[in-house]
Amino acid sequence: MAMDEILQGTIAACASFFLITLVCVFIYFIISSRAPKTQPHVTPQSQFSMENPTEAACFDPNLHISMALLKSSCNDFASDLIIGDGSFGLVYKAKFPNGEIVALKKLSVDAFHGLREFAAEMETLAMIHHQNLVRILGYCISGRERILVYEFLEMGSLDQWLHEPTDEKNSSMLSWSARIRIIRGVAEGLAFLHDGCNPCIIHRDIKSSNVLLDNDHGAKIADFGLARTMESSRSHVSTQVAGTMGYMPPEYGNGMMTATVKGDVHSFGMLMLEIATGRRPNLMVKKEGIRAEIRLVDWVKGMLSSGLIVDMLDPGIIENLSENEFLDPIAVETYFKTALQCVEFHPKERPFMRQIVNLL
Ligand SMILES: Nc1ncnc2c1ncn2[C@@H]1O[C@H](COP(=O)(O)OP(=O)(O)OP(=O)(O)O)[C@@H](O)[C@H]1O
Ligand SMILES: *[C@@H]1O[C@H](CO)[C@@H](O)[C@H](O)[C@H]1NC(C)=O
Ligand SMILES: *[C@@H]1O[C@H](CO)[C@@H](O)[C@H](O)[C@H]1NC(C)=O
Ligand SMILES: [Mg+2]
Repeated sequence: MAMDEILQGTIAACASFFLITLVCVFIYFIISSRAPKTQPHVTPQSQFSMENPTEAACFDPNLHISMALLKSSCNDFASDLIIGDGSFGLVYKAKFPNGEIVALKKLSVDAFHGLREFAAEMETLAMIHHQNLVRILGYCISGRERILVYEFLEMGSLDQWLHEPTDEKNSSMLSWSARIRIIRGVAEGLAFLHDGCNPCIIHRDIKSSNVLLDNDHGAKIADFGLARTMESSRSHVSTQVAGTMGYMPPEYGNGMMTATVKGDVHSFGMLMLEIATGRRPNLMVKKEGIRAEIRLVDWVKGMLSSGLIVDMLDPGIIENLSENEFLDPIAVETYFKTALQCVEFHPKERPFMRQIVNLL
């Protein structure tokens, strides 16, 4: 009788232990199977806006960026402080309380994909330091707003110097040697993006408005890496960002949307032609004698084969020459031949940026 009771007790204890273990295991499985499921539902955006409304990163230790600071530094995005209007959004000139002047790029929100990817991408870009690349100083995300903070370049873009003449900035103030220096700088910066970074960065939008000048006419490339951030978002956006008319290589228009380094080389070649001739790559050129208008590249080819080399140059270059100065026509011819190599129809026939750096 006593043995039976002991046996019964043991069985009951074992059974309840087993049951409790089972319940615990069951609860554990429910929790662990739920955890990864709920994660994708918490999109980075809702996470940021609910628990952590302001997310800012400063890549410059001297800056302490917050949305409130950025807003006050440009009078709450006052329209008179707008210095540019590009495909990613508006650009403002802003002044921090410590006196530092920066450029703020207010991104059009819906064009960019996930916040985490965006933040990761910006961290990568911030690590790229080169004398011919515009520094990104930080970014700030607040709710649906995304703002990039860049170093400010007082002298503005090459586009303004070439095509928007004022008394302070105009094409006759850019000598031939100053232009060579600018184009060499762009080549160095682009070569660095192509083979000095891992992974390689394809700019996709090399053009004169993305070349900024510093105080002694050194060139800095702006907006590198932005097109890549937008890549996996909506296709119509990527189409728009794949390049600017005139600079864009022919293969990008044929549905071959994957950007390549040779695509950048084409845009660079068009930039070379633009800075030497002072003509915009997207505009046709009136050919003397005939009524038709032709593409800039065809005009340069024709002039080159007729030996009219110096005649192609921007009148501003000629105006800048002092009386006892002259241009070496051989050097100018070599320059145009290099540019034409860069805009070859077949990507394979275009040189790599490293080779171009050595040619210039
Ligand atoms: N860091 C900066 N310092 C000084 N000026 C700048 C700076 N960034 C941009 N700008 C000015 O703002 C203009 C517009 O820049 P933005 O990049 O928005 O447009 P974009 O270059 O014309 O086109 P995209 O969006 O395709 O680059 C530039 O041409 C330049 O004059
Ligand atoms: C360019 O600048 C120079 C020097 O300031 C000035 O003399 C000239 O008139 C300007 N040219 C144009 C077209 O604005
Ligand atoms: C010629 O170009 C140089 C450098 O680009 C500039 O400093 C100078 O003012 C220009 N001269 C004239 C007459 O515009
Ligand atoms: Mg730009």
